[in-house]
Amino acid sequence: MCGIVGAIGNLDYKTYLTSGLKKLDYRGYDSAGLAFWNKGKISLYRAVGSVENLASIVPDGHAGTAGIAHTRWATHGGVTVENAHPQRSWDKKVYLVHNGVIDNYKELKEWLSGMGCQFRSDTDTEVIASVIAYFLQEGETPLDAIRKAMEKLDGSYALAILFTGQEGLYFAKNKSPLVLGRGDTRINCLASDYAPILDYCSNFAALDDGTYGYMTENSIVAYRNGKNLALRFASKDKEDYVYDLAGYPHFMMKEIHEGAHVVRKNVETYFDREKKVYLFDPQLLASLKAADEVVFLGCGSSHYSSEAAAAYFNRHGLRATSYIASEWIHGVYPHLKNPYYVLISQSGETADLISCLDMMEKGTKTLGIVNAKDSTIARRSGHVLYIGAGLEVAVASTKSFLGQMALMMLLCGAVNGDTSVPDSLLEAAKAVDDVVGRRADIDAIAEGIVEVHDAFFVGRGMDFFAGEESSLKLKEISYVHSESYPGGELKHGPIALIEEGTPVFAFVGNPEISKQIRSNVEELKARGAVAYIVSSESCAKEGDAFVYRYVEGDFAPYPEVAFGQLLSYYLSLRRGLNVDKPRNLAKSVTVN
Ligand code: M6R
Repeated sequence: MCGIVGAIGNLDYKTYLTSGLKKLDYRGYDSAGLAFWNKGKISLYRAVGSVENLASIVPDGHAGTAGIAHTRWATHGGVTVENAHPQRSWDKKVYLVHNGVIDNYKELKEWLSGMGCQFRSDTDTEVIASVIAYFLQEGETPLDAIRKAMEKLDGSYALAILFTGQEGLYFAKNKSPLVLGRGDTRINCLASDYAPILDYCSNFAALDDGTYGYMTENSIVAYRNGKNLALRFASKDKEDYVYDLAGYPHFMMKEIHEGAHVVRKNVETYFDREKKVYLFDPQLLASLKAADEVVFLGCGSSHYSSEAAAAYFNRHGLRATSYIASEWIHGVYPHLKNPYYVLISQSGETADLISCLDMMEKGTKTLGIVNAKDSTIARRSGHVLYIGAGLEVAVASTKSFLGQMALMMLLCGAVNGDTSVPDSLLEAAKAVDDVVGRRADIDAIAEGIVEVHDAFFVGRGMDFFAGEESSLKLKEISYVHSESYPGGELKHGPIALIEEGTPVFAFVGNPEISKQIRSNVEELKARGAVAYIVSSESCAKEGDAFVYRYVEGDFAPYPEVAFGQLLSYYLSLRRGLNVDKPRNLAKSVTVN
């Protein structure tokens, strides 16, 4: 987690750095800080909490010819000003911002402390600054000091570094993302992703692990293993990074509104409706078909979308399983002869998924289904397909979840030669729009449960996956404890938790199984639960809390998840919480 941004050249640094941090605060928002370099001297500003808190203590029009900044998701050390970045070395020669985790920082700290070095923070980052400073004191140049420090560091890092008395913005990268941007007008920039630097640069390069170097306002020089490296710069499509509320009160609401569009966009991108043919690479389809199993790997919402996809693949005769990435790495799953791994990720930077890639043997077949273009997972997967959802800012995944499901279902249709999937998805998109259009009804339901401490979601078949995703949304942004179960499973234990007044949301999207789930609801009501049945027109009954426009049973999760997203949104709002930036979380989870 954590976001870093920096630049060198002629800029209004306060504006550049603070607006850059705002675009990165999806990566963490515990504290923020920045440092300006001016004629060899460095000034430091740090504040706990939001970027606005930081901006309020930084004087306007501060002179500087280089700057670095950071937004933090705390890993080592509490949320305090001393632990905020930039961190500096004990001798104040090295100032740096860091995204990542240094595994051996304790050993390094002991080593440096033994030589009299003093530390002011609890962070692993301060140790990096001091290791670099140590090598400077040994007579190394800044670049060699960085290289030697990299040899000592175990762990992940994207670093932007300033040196007192030494011109240049230095950088180093291992496992955490770092992109560089070349400006047209004597400016060069760097950041954790493209969004903060798009307006300042015209060409961009994502760094590979082990790269380090420096930039001046006119040049960028990079190295790996002591050898000069030719970076490949390319332009970027700004459309992919639009950071704008567009009149909505929150990014989450905007992104919920965009959900149906993302489903349609995937249909357009991957299916020619006139010719009725899929547009996927035929070789990819052939490999998926030939695999003894398609193995989906993901985390959080991306895991739930892939669970739904795996079930859909299975229902259509294809062997598929879905695993939580952070568990798959422990190897407790069957060894397959010819698997095809599909890595699902909105950000493309999730550390748990990158660990899966690290573990795979060379030649393993991998497909990344990703939203963020040129992200680590996109670059490292053998094949990549983009969901094209555009920038998703709110920590809670919404439109990307629908886009992921749509793309995976299209893939299943393509492997099977089933050309009816795109039409079903377009119907599902209409149903999503319809749910969003009736959001006031969902707000009214939220109003009735503002004070609850626990909630349950139940469903059977594909509806169960909608319950899982909705339950995660509810926990994540409204802080209501929530459980999700297949309808038949409650009576094997969890029903003991049902008390007088416990809200239970039941998704009923498939006429073939609606009887069973409705009888599960009766069992819950008999124990005091207040049931809210969310049903499809095809299986609606009088008294249902919310009836959505008809879609085929397999596509019911689309409108049901839209319902869950809106319920969580309104509950969060009514409880006075920060919808877009819930506590303890970050959008891009770049630590294991
Ligand atoms: O970027 P990714 O899709 O890899 O992220 C995975 C999870 O961290 C993410 O889905 C998380 O669960 C969301 N905050 C859920 O809304």
